[in-house]
Amino acid sequence: MNYDKDSLYSEAITACDLAYAPYSNVAVGAVALLESGELVSAGNYENCSSPVCICAEHSLICTLNNIKNGVKIVAISVAAKYNKQLIDIAPCGKCRQVLTECSNRQKSPIMVCFSHEGKLLSVSAGELMPYAFDGNL
Ligand code: THU
Repeated sequence: MNYDKDSLYSEAITACDLAYAPYSNVAVGAVALLESGELVSAGNYENCSSPVCICAEHSLICTLNNIKNGVKIVAISVAAKYNKQLIDIAPCGKCRQVLTECSNRQKSPIMVCFSHEGKLLSVSAGELMPYAFDGNL
C-alpha cells in the first residue's frame, strides 16, 4: 500500500499529545497505518519508577495486538517533543526488537518513518535491526 511519509509523520506529531511523560518531558508519539487503511496512535507512558516506562512504539504494538488483532501494519511513524519542542527521534533498541518480531510475525515488512538530522527517513524494521536476536537457540 502507498503511504505518504510526511503525512504519517504529521500524525505521529499529533500523537505526542497522548504521551504521559512528566519525568523526562520527552513526549513521544507513534502512529501505525494498517492494511485496512486505519490509523492507530499511542504515546509513551512513564512511571515514577523509571525502568517501568513504556516507549510509544511498544505501547502502539501492544495496543494494536489488543484492539486490531491480526490486522497487518504497513508503516509506523514516530515523533517526539522535548519540553514541547519538536526533536528528532529514532526508535530505541528495545523498540527495534519489538518491531522486528512484529514484522516477522505478520510476514510482511513494516516501514518505520522518523526524522533524522532534519531529514524524514523511511526504513524497514528489519533494516533498523540487523543481526536481530530471533529467539532461535
Ligand atoms: N522513548 C520512546 O517512547 N520511544 C523511543 O524509541 C525512545 C524513547 C521514550 C521513553 C521515555 O518515556 C522517554 O522517551 C525518554 O527516554
